[in-house]
Amino acid sequence: MKTIATINFKGGVGKTTATWALGNVAARDAGVSSLIFDLDAQMSLTQAIALNEDGNPFKDFTNWYERSISKKKTIFDALDEFTKPTAFNFGVNHDFIYKISDRYHFVPSVEDLYWTELELFDREKVKFFIQRLLEKVQNSSNVPKYNYALFDCPPSFSLLSYSVLSTCDLVLIPINPDFFAAKGLSLLLNSLRMRIEPFPVPKIGVFMNRAKKPGGSSIKHYSNETQRYLDDAADVLRHVAADRGLNVRLFDQAIFDKVGMKRAIQEGLPTDFAAQYSNLWKQIQSFLNEKTK
Ligand SMILES: Nc1ncnc2c1ncn2[C@@H]1O[C@H](COP(=O)(O)OP(=O)(O)OP(=O)(O)O)[C@@H](O)[C@H]1O
Ligand SMILES: [Mg+2]
Repeated sequence: MKTIATINFKGGVGKTTATWALGNVAARDAGVSSLIFDLDAQMSLTQAIALNEDGNPFKDFTNWYERSISKKKTIFDALDEFTKPTAFNFGVNHDFIYKISDRYHFVPSVEDLYWTELELFDREKVKFFIQRLLEKVQNSSNVPKYNYALFDCPPSFSLLSYSVLSTCDLVLIPINPDFFAAKGLSLLLNSLRMRIEPFPVPKIGVFMNRAKKPGGSSIKHYSNETQRYLDDAADVLRHVAADRGLNVRLFDQAIFDKVGMKRAIQEGLPTDFAAQYSNLWKQIQSFLNEKTK
């Protein structure tokens, strides 16, 4: 199983949408199963999956979710169990993992995750939580053998994102064509390294979300502005690769700004959008499969 953490300090860049869309396109390949996790206490992914197109609660999920909470099968219960001095005995089954569709599954967030930010938990121990939880998922005969696990992380360094970062294969960073694209990226990459070491720093992939098309009949890919921010981001990546020896990639496939994208998660991936994400997914897979130098 390959694991991917979608992260950026900046809010609203498209982390949640990317995690959801990539998990979705991954499971379109024959025989591939994907598992997405909502690690954000703000629960945007969980809420989007819980609501249908009309904004009404989606009954199957809501019923399942209530049962998961009452059976103490949420990710918070798993963490609680893990941090006890006794052996980690959390059983993984479909009370913990929700089936969005046949091969596309989901572990929702719960408000209790806010507690993880208080000093209630031992930081050093929690670091190993996601790694141990994924082992349980892989060894469980109650759920499929997932090919990919994707984590939607909050726009901050939470204890849980820390725990994912120390075990994932790829850190995926969406950026937007704005002033913060390059600045934020350089800040993020430096602090990632400081936070993760002495663990090996995973591969780092960056893509532009909400890219703008050029005006008129231009044959260019992007607007001048989007292109400039992409070039700036490429510069930052070149520098960190050279100075710090990080394995970084700026993916060619950007995701374009799509008006009315607000409710994609409820309504399903629009076709043009799915094509862009499928292509991005191919580039991510080939980066994941490259041997580390
Ligand atoms: N390519 C796009 N075109 C248009 N709208 C988009 C695009 N990508 C994301 N959005 C919209 O931008 C908003 C923020 O996206 P999203 O929730 O994925 O960001 P986020 O980084 O997870 O935010 P947060 O930091 O709050 O967790 C959402 O309303 C989403 O529908
Ligand atoms: Mg989000």
